Amino acid sequence: MPAPSVIFLVGFMGSGKTSIGRELASLLDVGFVDLDELITHHDGRTVSAIFAEDGELRFRERERAVLFKLESALATGAVIATGGGTFADPALRAWMLERGVAVWLDATLDAIERRVARDGSRPLFGDRAALEALHAQRRDAYSEAPMRFDTSATDPAAAALAIHRALSQRARG
Ligand code: S3P
Repeated sequence: MPAPSVIFLVGFMGSGKTSIGRELASLLDVGFVDLDELITHHDGRTVSAIFAEDGELRFRERERAVLFKLESALATGAVIATGGGTFADPALRAWMLERGVAVWLDATLDAIERRVARDGSRPLFGDRAALEALHAQRRDAYSEAPMRFDTSATDPAAAALAIHRALSQRARG
């Protein structure tokens, strides 16, 4: 029997991790987990409230704890949409690379700025210069994912299909 699919979608804010993740999980017939949603569920507060009240460092501690709790859920396969900073943490990156296939959803900053509302729900979503700096800081980490897809010009369903196809090819060797 083939090993269950464990896919971590990684990449910058607004790259499509959640929307593509839902589609991909249904194509693979496995569960879908959105890490930010799970953090919110465990904590009882939104991501922006955690950032505002406790600071980024405490958010990162929660992110790490919630990710590690997923260990048993991975046994049956899952698509996990991570937060934009999750794969940038070396320990979390190593944990994910050991347990599944990481897929980097890459997109241009123009596409990202078109998609993401500046409504405060993403505390690190700053002005263009801030986004460029954060993106440059994380690029090398994201590029450690063995697969990369540019999602700038595709809708979530088409992107999920393309990723599904590439994963099947990869599994066949
Ligand atoms: C973050 C991205 C967010 C969320 C938090 C921090 C980041 O997730 O985890 O606001 O560090 O880039 P999305 O990438 O899903 O927006």
